[in-house]
Order: sequence, then C-alpha cells, then structure tokens
Amino acid sequence: MTEITPAWAKAHMPRVARAVENLPDMTGIRLAMSMHLDMKMLPLVEGLAGRGAALFITTCNPATVRNEVVDAMRAAGARVDAFKDMPEDDWQRAIENGIDWGPTHLCEMGSDYTHFLLSRGLELPDVKAGLEATGSGINRLQGTLPPWPIFNWDDLPVKEGLHNRHMVGLTTWNAFFTRTLLSLHEKTVLVVGYGSVGQGLAASARAFGGTVMVAEIDPARRLQARYDGWRTGSVAELAPEADVIVTGTGGHHVVPFSVIEGLKDGCFLLNSGHRIDEIELEPLLALPVKQALPAVTTHSLPSGNRVHLFVGGAMANLTGGEGDSLNAFDMTLAVMAEGIGHIVGEGEKAASGVHLLPRAVWERACPDPL
Ligand SMILES: NC(=O)c1ccc[n+]([C@@H]2O[C@H](COP(=O)([O-])OP(=O)(O)OC[C@H]3O[C@@H](n4cnc5c(N)ncnc54)[C@H](O)[C@@H]3O)[C@@H](O)[C@H]2O)c1
Repeated sequence: MTEITPAWAKAHMPRVARAVENLPDMTGIRLAMSMHLDMKMLPLVEGLAGRGAALFITTCNPATVRNEVVDAMRAAGARVDAFKDMPEDDWQRAIENGIDWGPTHLCEMGSDYTHFLLSRGLELPDVKAGLEATGSGINRLQGTLPPWPIFNWDDLPVKEGLHNRHMVGLTTWNAFFTRTLLSLHEKTVLVVGYGSVGQGLAASARAFGGTVMVAEIDPARRLQARYDGWRTGSVAELAPEADVIVTGTGGHHVVPFSVIEGLKDGCFLLNSGHRIDEIELEPLLALPVKQALPAVTTHSLPSGNRVHLFVGGAMANLTGGEGDSLNAFDMTLAVMAEGIGHIVGEGEKAASGVHLLPRAVWERACPDPL
C-alpha cells in the first residue's frame, strides 16, 4: 500500500498538470490503455476523463498493479479491468475485453492490445492511432504491419535518456536496499543488458557501493560498457562470480537455469526488464523454497547453494518499490499526455506503421516546471 496520496502526486507533477490542460476536448474518444497501475498515473487518468474521454484500462504487468490505484481510477470514471497479481488467463481476458469495448485509440506499454489483434488477424476498423511507451512493445511490433499509425515514444531522449537511464537503476537498488536492508558494498553485481536501463543499473550499482560487471550480446554496446569502465563477458562466464544479478533486456530467459545451477551461495536474482521471464523461473520454482522475507524467496539448488529471488522475478523497482520519483516521472508522464493529444488529433492522419513521436509534440512537455 503506497503512502503517496493522489493530492501529493498531483502537487509534484506540474508538467503533467500543464500537459493535461493542453489536451483537446476528447468527447467521443474511446481510449484503451494498458499500463502500470501506479498512483503516479492518476493525474493523467483524471485529466483524460475530465476532458471527456471514455477510458478502458488494464495493466501491462499483473505484478505491478496497486489495488488502491484501481479504485482511484474507477472513482475518476475509468473502466478498469485489473487486480494485483491477476492470473494470466484473467489478464488476457482483460485485454480481450478492452478490444471488445471498441476503442478508437490505444495507449500501451508492451503492445498487448495490438499484439492480440495482429496475432489473431482481427480487424479493428475503429482504431485510428496508438501510442507505445516501451522498448519491449516496440520490439514486439517489429515485422508486423499494424493497420493504423503507432507512435513510439520509448526511443525519445526525454524518455529513454531520462526515465530508462536514470530512474530504473536508482529505484531498483533503492527497492533492493529497502526490502532486504542490504547494500551493494563488497558485492559483485552482474548487469545483464546494456541498453539505457542496463547503463543506469550499472552506474547506480557502483554509486550504491557495488563492483560491476556487464553481460551484453550486442558487440557495440558491449564495447560501450568497456569504454564505461566495466568488465564484460557472457552471462555464463560472469554469473558464477556474482553476488547479485540484475536483468534489463526485454529478452526471454537471458539468465537460463543452466547458469542459475552454478551460482554462488547467497546470490540474488533481480529483474528490472519488462518481462517476468527474463530469468528462467520454472525450474527454480520447482526447487525447495523458503519465503525468507516478504520480497525474497530463497531456493535451494541441487549444488547445495541457495539463491535469493527478489519479488518473484517481477519488475524489481515497480513491484518491490514505488518506481520513479514524482519529479522525474512528471517529465515522462507529461510526454505521454502530449502523445495522447497527438494521437487523437494530427497523428490520426499519419500513415499506418510505427513512427517516432514527433519532436514538435514531445518538446511541449520540456520547459522547466515553474
Ligand atoms: N523497470 C522499469 O521501470 C523499466 C523502465 C523502462 C524500461 N524497462 C524495460 O527494461 C528493458 C530494457 O530497456 P532498454 O530501454 O534498456 O532496452 P534496449 O533494447 O535499449 O536494451 C536492452 C539490451 O539488452 C541486450 N540483450 C538482449 N538480450 C540479451 C542477453 N540474452 N544477454 C545480454 N544482453 C542482452 C540487448 O542487446 C540490448 O542492448 C525492456 O524490457 C524495457 O521495457 C523497464
């Protein structure tokens, strides 16, 4: 249960307040949203409802849902189909319900509605445009032909360069420290993936006292990691030396069980990527397990060593903590609000397919807050 009230969140997000004021009249717009159901999203949801938009909301990740946020979004007038840790079947049904609800526009974090439609070959003539916030969602769209324009805002410097690069690392380690009362001093930390999330995880791990190593499959980014001063190698090579492993790739089973079997006694496993399956969990969950702390399960490996899994492998910063600071998320959410203003206006006229959100749109969110 968060201690942050909606009033406190609003008071510390002045860019969002300004972006919401700039939204057009949204009467007749049916916006289906899929996002983390976090108190920080509420000022936008209230703003959209206040502009007359009909809203259907589900989560992009059942583990990050806050039930009190669901209640607050319902009170703001949104139809919300989500609850904390909803099972996969219920979540998929919620996505289907969102489609059946007949949206005119989609605002997504992970492309779940779009992927659902495209994978089933369904036609949705009423959808005019969409907005996608995550690298994982953009990757899922590669090689597909969405029949409406989708605006990618993950790759913007004001999103990737700020939120991904600076917030995820800070808030992941803050959650780890808060929930375990362990810092990274004297610990060797393996960061898997060196995109903007991995870069922030690595830099923050050092700031929090850790000795950092990086595993990255892209040769340019691996070299960038070396230029940044990190020792690099493959997951299989480096993992046996790690006291803490954190993933931030958007990939599947980037820490496979064959690697987990060889980990040091007491090694921690955390994931800060979008997908819960970055760590191969199934064989780990089949081992003898103890709930060591509310946020930590301890699994006994066949080797006799134990590994500690943080918040079940769900997104560490959002499930184990509160995620971004309000002042930093103010920028991110203001860009999202400007993006929504775009997809319900000029953006509808763009060609089908994926486009970067235009500069003229996102820079409206940029002026310093007063
Ligand atoms: N926790 C959060 O709050 C939060 C916030 C933003 C983004 N994300 C998520 O974090 C993930 C990473 O985001 P990003 O912006 O850095 O993405 P990115 O695509 O820029 O970087 C991911 C990197 O991981 C590397 N990678 C992929 N598979 C790998 C493997 N098997 N081993 C080693 N490296 C591998 C890729 O080569 C790439 O360089 C995504 O899933 C994104 O959705 C999480």
